[in-house]
Amino acid sequence: MHVEVCEDPRAVALRVADLVADEVAGRPDAVLGLPTGATPLPVYDELVRRVARGALDCSGVRVFLLDEYVGLDADDPRSYRATIRRDATDPLGIPHERVHGPCGEADDPERAAADYEVAIAVAGGIDLQLAGIGRNGHVAFNEPGTDLALGTHVAVLSPQTRADNARFFPAGSVPLRAITQGPATLLAARRLVLVATGTAKSAALADAVGGPVGARCPASVVQSHPDAVVVADRAAAQLLDPRWCGEAPTPGGPKRLGRVRP
Ligand code: PGA
Repeated sequence: MHVEVCEDPRAVALRVADLVADEVAGRPDAVLGLPTGATPLPVYDELVRRVARGALDCSGVRVFLLDEYVGLDADDPRSYRATIRRDATDPLGIPHERVHGPCGEADDPERAAADYEVAIAVAGGIDLQLAGIGRNGHVAFNEPGTDLALGTHVAVLSPQTRADNARFFPAGSVPLRAITQGPATLLAARRLVLVATGTAKSAALADAVGGPVGARCPASVVQSHPDAVVVADRAAAQLLDPRWCGEAPTPGGPKRLGRVRP
């Protein structure tokens, strides 16, 4: 695992966009794992700018969402399938049939979760997975206490995660469950890019990067991945041991990469 520290969220966005663009340049039909949430939005905006100026062509990529609420169908604007289309894949010119997400509206969510894991495998696996981190150390909807050996599964959302997401739902109606890629799904991606910005993520990021690998902090799975990159701004990285971190002094270009927990 490598950790890169960028000056601010804008520099993080440029750096992560570089990682995605490099992947797509090398493999125009790459399978990207994409998250929703606030953190990746500047990344998507930067990628859209590159597509608009002809520097990047995403029309051949395939996308697998990280997670989806149980009980929302794909056309519900609050569903993650609708959200990723709006925020990323439509403006990037990725055809709908190439964008996949767990079937939140399925009568049997456990079955839908298992089917999703199979669909990822049938696509050849995820080449590059982007992920954010929750304030409690969750990654996707893998909340503290999640068995790190789990693949895509049905997860019960923690009170903190439901509170964090409450702004998107009428009072009291935040879904209780989600279908989420599991820690083992994340580990199986060929490359994992964990992105964190802002002070609110600093304690969770320190746990994920420098604490023990285990269910207490599901994002700690990043330490076990053979090709993981953590990209954080200074605010999110403030509790990391500086010896673990590389610097990214110029937007879009790290000077060197740090290796954590040798
Ligand atoms: P955020 O969510 O990007 O909206 O902060 C990240 C997460 O909770 O995984």
